[in-house]
Amino acid sequence: MGKDISNPFDKAYKLTSMDETKQLYADWSDTYDSQLAETGYATPQRCADALALYCSDKSGPVLDIGCGTGLSGAALLKAGFSTIDGTDPSEDMIAIAGPKKLYRDLSITDLSNQLDFPIGTYAAMIAVGVINIGHAPGSTIHLVLEKLSIGGLFAFSLNDHALSDPEIAGALNAARDLPHISIMHEEYGDHLPGIGLNAKIFVLKRTA
Ligand SMILES: C[S@@+](CC[C@H](N)C(=O)[O-])C[C@H]1O[C@@H](n2cnc3c(N)ncnc32)[C@H](O)[C@@H]1O
Repeated sequence: MGKDISNPFDKAYKLTSMDETKQLYADWSDTYDSQLAETGYATPQRCADALALYCSDKSGPVLDIGCGTGLSGAALLKAGFSTIDGTDPSEDMIAIAGPKKLYRDLSITDLSNQLDFPIGTYAAMIAVGVINIGHAPGSTIHLVLEKLSIGGLFAFSLNDHALSDPEIAGALNAARDLPHISIMHEEYGDHLPGIGLNAKIFVLKRTA
């Protein structure tokens, strides 16, 4: 069966299972970079630049969760980060990212244990365009925060679709209430200007 790459943006926000998600990104991987460039995809650089504002040592390891083809890794490098690992459930997206040589290490995420590493392994983590309907759930916010040591940072984006999802909004509000977590940065702006979609960028810090 050939690759079905019609209306990928519509499909991306209507996914209902991980099988559908993997199929979409398998079909989309070859043309993802060019289509995202055409729509003016602003979020990777917005997120990486926001993270850089709160990170004094940019040589510490950063994990790019849902790294896809590496657009978020490229944005991290441009923002000054030098040690970046990437992980994603889609083999096809990772296959595009690999030859770009952006990442120290790239792994296919096993979603059952995707954060199976010790607390403090990463000075910062980032999830650009990943927490969304049909993608990683809002509970990912909590999973990531649990893996930060004191001073650790988590930068992520929520686009308009994600911001209106009750599960994701609930997880965000729960994170706001955590006494050991501070919201350092929260900024609404361009996501995919070519299709009129915006996103909020967050940077959370573990403070105690
Ligand atoms: C819109 S792309 C973003 C890719 C990259 N971060 C970027 O900014 O271009 C979403 C990525 O999230 C990945 N993804 C989907 N569900 C996920 C999950 N549950 N956990 C981690 N990544 C997931 C997809 O495979 C895809 O590569």
